[in-house]
Amino acid sequence: MSSDARELRLEAQRRRTFAIISHPDAGKSTMTEALALHAHVISEAGAIHGKAGRKSTVSDWMEMEKARGISVSSTALQFNYALEGTDGPGAVINLVDTPGHADFSEDTYRVLTAVDAAVMLIDAAKGLEPQTLKLFQVCRHRGIPVITVINKWDRPGRTPLELIDEISERIGLIPTPLFLPVGIAGDFRGLLDRRTGEYIHFTRTAGGAKIAPEELLDPDAALEREGDAWIAAVEESELLSEMGQDHDEELFLAGQTSPMIFASAMLNFGVRQLLDALVELAPAPSGRTGIDGTEREVTDPFSAVVFKVQAGMDSSHRDRLAFMRIVSGEFERGMVVTHAQTGKPFATKYAHTVVGRDRSTVDTAYPGDVVGLVNATALAPGDTLYDGPRIQYPPIPSFAPEHFSTLRVTTADKYKQFRKAMDQLDSEGVVQVLRNETRGDASPVLAAVGPMQFEVVTARMKTEFNVDTVIEPLGYSLARRTDADSASELNRQRGVEVFTRTDGAILALFSDKWRLQYIEKEHGDLTLEPLVATA
Ligand code: G4P
Repeated sequence: MSSDARELRLEAQRRRTFAIISHPDAGKSTMTEALALHAHVISEAGAIHGKAGRKSTVSDWMEMEKARGISVSSTALQFNYALEGTDGPGAVINLVDTPGHADFSEDTYRVLTAVDAAVMLIDAAKGLEPQTLKLFQVCRHRGIPVITVINKWDRPGRTPLELIDEISERIGLIPTPLFLPVGIAGDFRGLLDRRTGEYIHFTRTAGGAKIAPEELLDPDAALEREGDAWIAAVEESELLSEMGQDHDEELFLAGQTSPMIFASAMLNFGVRQLLDALVELAPAPSGRTGIDGTEREVTDPFSAVVFKVQAGMDSSHRDRLAFMRIVSGEFERGMVVTHAQTGKPFATKYAHTVVGRDRSTVDTAYPGDVVGLVNATALAPGDTLYDGPRIQYPPIPSFAPEHFSTLRVTTADKYKQFRKAMDQLDSEGVVQVLRNETRGDASPVLAAVGPMQFEVVTARMKTEFNVDTVIEPLGYSLARRTDADSASELNRQRGVEVFTRTDGAILALFSDKWRLQYIEKEHGDLTLEPLVATA
């Protein structure tokens, strides 16, 4: 192996690229901040998003986000983290943010194509919640290994075994706790390290603003200090071992088991343990296979997949950022690469790492890293960029839309602007755009996983393109993929309409599932295939 290849392999091996998946309010922002605190990116929790302004400072690229207090956009946070007592450069952690709201699960799906592992964050009092379940299904679908964190253990909640059972029974993922809490939910004293048998006692800091000091005790000292709370944790640990619920790296990587940690993101308890688990157990970036079966190893020439395109992040520049995840090779800013979809060269002069509104120029990046490319108008989610021999990675599948509306421009003289805007939002993947001859181009049909995607379209039409539009819901509720042969017969049916999506897929929309069932029964020869579902 050449020294360049050796260096590339080392750089790839020390990277951990992951996303936190959680239901809104489970503590994702707080945990992100706690991770940054432990990696010394910030010196005090509250620096990235202070208490009062938390929801509006992370990524407030649109007024709508502020109004609703949700994050629509994705960003990536990179930091170095070294395991205690180790020499050398340590690990490079890439935390890719996912939007929490279910209406943006399409976006989340794309983000999850860019990570190698996920942290499933669960509220100790609430257990599994709908959005966690949905996101977990996406991880399973993509074979992403999951580390589970039970958060908010400082507040009253369920028992560890109840939560473990719920996860095993409802999603078939077997938790293998690495640490068990000492003290019931609401009385969080520390963690039993199941692999060493030792006790990590935490001390609270004022407002949870600093890293919580840890004290390591052997089992006898732990018993003396915590009494029954320690005995309960030891008994739970023994029970789990009897049931075979000890960490097994192979089963974890195969997506069958999930290492589990109990934590309080607010008090910074269990956060170091999560970082350590990511470094020790989560997979490093690995190569990928192109659509023609060609393998690309991390040490091969540069290649990357665009997983998200976003415009209007900064209202003072109408720019468009394409986020790529590097799959192989070394990226150097300024290199001219090839855009696989068009075969055209793409200059990477403006490459950034992006966290919220802050951008910093990136000069070099390695497999697993996320880089934002400015003014990347030609790039769309799922596109491949490469250097050296040609490679094209498989496209990102789009979700089955469940909401359908027409979009109409209200002032006729803005029609040209409207078309331009529609094309841009379409290529960014904000919504799916459907067209047919009957309706023409003046009022395309928009298809979305969640209705809030429509609001993003009308808001951006107004703020970025100065075009007033109205959304009018259509009476369809589900879509099937069909083909040109079946299209004319389907168009003759009541409650059905056939469209072509921008990517060329032919979709039939149905008023309701009974209509679909009736047509499937009456016309068994028609092609009607389900699209990728979100749950
Ligand atoms: P999200 O990004 O997943 O939506 O959740 P976020 O971090 O915003 O946390 C949601 C709420 O839960 C916040 O309270 C936050 O302080 C609280 N929280 C997060 N982690 C913990 C934890 O470990 N323990 C406890 N007790 N609370 C936690 P809030 O009242 O909505 O906001 P704030 O006024 O505290 O900022």
